[in-house]
Amino acid sequence: MTNVAQEQKKRVLSLIQPTAMPTLGNYLGALKNWKEMSRDYDCIFGIADLHALTSRPNPGELRRQTLEMFALLLSLGLDPDENIVFVQSHVCAHSELSWILNCYTQFGEASRMTQFKEKSHKQSDNINIGLFAYPTLMAADILLYLTNFVPVGADQKQHLELARDVAERFNGIYGNVFTVPEPFIGKKGAKIMSLQDPAAKMSKSDANPKASVSVLDEPDTIFKKFKSAVTDSEAQVRRAEGKDGIVNLMTIYSCCTGKDFDAIEREFEGKGYGDFKSAVAEAVIEELRPLREKYKSVVADKSYLADCAVKGAAAAARVSARTADKVKKKVGLWQKP
Ligand code: TYM
Repeated sequence: MTNVAQEQKKRVLSLIQPTAMPTLGNYLGALKNWKEMSRDYDCIFGIADLHALTSRPNPGELRRQTLEMFALLLSLGLDPDENIVFVQSHVCAHSELSWILNCYTQFGEASRMTQFKEKSHKQSDNINIGLFAYPTLMAADILLYLTNFVPVGADQKQHLELARDVAERFNGIYGNVFTVPEPFIGKKGAKIMSLQDPAAKMSKSDANPKASVSVLDEPDTIFKKFKSAVTDSEAQVRRAEGKDGIVNLMTIYSCCTGKDFDAIEREFEGKGYGDFKSAVAEAVIEELRPLREKYKSVVADKSYLADCAVKGAAAAARVSARTADKVKKKVGLWQKP
């Protein structure tokens, strides 16, 4: 590709925490879009291992999970020569800018973050400052790369809005330093719900293993989880109030097959939930099959993973250092002579 063509491409960035293998929710809300966008945009994708520290994970487990998540991103089909794929802690500008942005973020606006409130409730014995400053590290991730679009699920929208506010505030004081990013939230799949409680988001940290599907679950396991998904007693596949479980399954089916809700309702007219659940499970199994198969070989190739991580970190450092240097100069830090 020519440099001109590369320059015209808009930049896309997103990260994922390595706290557990991604769920079908992470996949349909974010990862699937990452892969699709990687063809048309200048993409940077990363693993938010610094964010993961806010829940004080076991060190050995965090290291293993980071490596596995890195392998998973490469298995998605993100070409590490065309896109930057990196680990957040390998690029020091993230921590540096996040500190500076803390000084341009108000206590009141960070206190309003619903994810902070939810996580404070979940880990009430460890409400650390990192948990509170989580969104400013996320803003640093995004703003360092002059990102245009951020593909995320609906749960990250509020954090994105904060990143935009901080960027606008900073630009208002110092001139146009940052690009103000736009969230990219898919029309469907932005909020996949738990299979056991359709009122709750499907989450990696759910204690009930039947509530979520991991992207690496074996076909048998996926099948069983969909068979036991909570629905309702009406036995009609259609959108309606009080049918959140069925609507969630219709969303998943639609994301995996490309069929819209009208077509799904027609397809299952007169059929029971048993048939529908089997069809959803089969569609998910087929959607995830290439990823699961590729992952097995990629995760076993430690030297390939190491090479890609080194290459990704170097490329990310090159881009982010330009913004970090500019910011340091603007705020009045003495440049290293
Ligand atoms: P994380 O690791 O919680 O989730 C990764 C991505 O998956 C999306 N997601 C969902 N989408 C649909 N349905 C669900 N049930 C569901 N659960 C999760 C999330 O919205 C996210 O896009 N703070 C971020 C990571 C991050 C980041 C960034 C993202 C760090 N820095 C910079 C974008 C830009 C997080 O914890 O994602």
